[in-house]
Amino acid sequence: MTAKRILLIIGGGIAAYKSIELVRLLRKSGHVVRCVLTRAGEQFVTPLTLAALSENKVYTSLFDLKDEVEMGHIQLSREADLVVVAPATADLMAKMAGGIADDLATTLLLATDKPVLAAPAMNVRMWLHPATQRNVSTLRGDGVTVMQPDEGEMACGEYGPGRLPEPEAIHAAIVEALSSPLPLAGGAGGGPVAGEAEVDMPSPNPSRKREGDFRGQPDFAPTNHRPLHGRRILITAGPTHEPIDPVRYIANRSSGKQGFAIAAAAAEAGAEVLLIAGPVPLPTPPGVVRVDVETAREMAEEVAGGLPADAAIMVAAVADWRAADTRAQKIKKDGSGAVPPLALAENPDILASVAKSPDRPPLLVGFAAETNDVIAHAEAKLARKGCDWIVANDVSADPMGGETNRVHIISKAGVESWDRLPKGAVARKLMEKIADDLDLRSPLDSD
Ligand code: C5P
Repeated sequence: MTAKRILLIIGGGIAAYKSIELVRLLRKSGHVVRCVLTRAGEQFVTPLTLAALSENKVYTSLFDLKDEVEMGHIQLSREADLVVVAPATADLMAKMAGGIADDLATTLLLATDKPVLAAPAMNVRMWLHPATQRNVSTLRGDGVTVMQPDEGEMACGEYGPGRLPEPEAIHAAIVEALSSPLPLAGGAGGGPVAGEAEVDMPSPNPSRKREGDFRGQPDFAPTNHRPLHGRRILITAGPTHEPIDPVRYIANRSSGKQGFAIAAAAAEAGAEVLLIAGPVPLPTPPGVVRVDVETAREMAEEVAGGLPADAAIMVAAVADWRAADTRAQKIKKDGSGAVPPLALAENPDILASVAKSPDRPPLLVGFAAETNDVIAHAEAKLARKGCDWIVANDVSADPMGGETNRVHIISKAGVESWDRLPKGAVARKLMEKIADDLDLRSPLDSD
């Protein structure tokens, strides 16, 4: 790659020290780096260190008249090929989202006409706060690439998402951003439409692993086509595992591929996506917040906590039954040939409960895998579950774990049958249909 010019804006946070390594990596790969330090950033790293490593002047103040003579702030913001904000603190992102320009860093971010990549770093509660998530969503809607923070132990002793991604990961995201045309910040990437409401993110249960991966995914190309921008979509996917004892469980066959493809397509279409996934070894699609669960009851709990949403798409193959009592120790064969009794209890029907809940999303979609009389069974299921659409697929040809799907969309309006398509194409087509349907309704929090 030819040398590029990076304007690196360093916010104030303990993670600012990692920006030093980032400068070193960028210089090593031949790029020209100009650093801007916020006032808070100056508390953590010194201009002198950054100047020495970047071999360039470091900028700190908007009112440094000498700099305005040498290089005005507008020029500084525009001469770069890419503007990188690392660490992007909650405060800095809030200002960016609000268009506030009260110091050099925020003025440059408002004045720039170049792509912007932000690597957030903050306390887990601050990251998960609806205000921050709203700001992240606004920034993404404005075309800013906001990386997903790392998860782990924080400098403050808490655990969760919010750590600054490692310098190598930020470097990789920069290389990717420089090699693929990113949307320009400031609206060219499909910014929010005036008057369009933003939605809250789920209030998450921090005890469960939550993951969102926005980095290093070559197939993720933000596009200007974001028909689900400002919408929040909840998706369940994969099987559930219902433990019998510590080594055995009851489960339905499910690869999770269709549900994950739907989550990926929803995020690509600009939605905020909460993916509640049973145990599957699939990577988290870019831009998706994922919560891993094991059992149907855990899934039901996370779904209830994840509402409200504009649409919920229940793709998970939830086990209908669980062991009535889970043994704490492995059930042993005693050699007598006697089979241990296995009493079952019925699991909650998540889809049917959501349909009856006060938080019922305006659009509720269920899935049905059928081996015979696909449409008749799906029509009966639509009525029984109280959802708006059933996406039925004929599994007699065994698409479980396969790469394609042939689906029929059953609703009160009738039956729409699609050709057999790759699961990604089914997902994208479904998102277009969902966007069309939601367009007829107002966004979640506008009423
Ligand atoms: O009843 P059946 O399992 O065929 O229904 C399939 C649909 O219902 C899927 O959308 C599935 O995610 C959902 N479901 C659920 N909770 C269950 C069983 C199924 O949400 N306990």
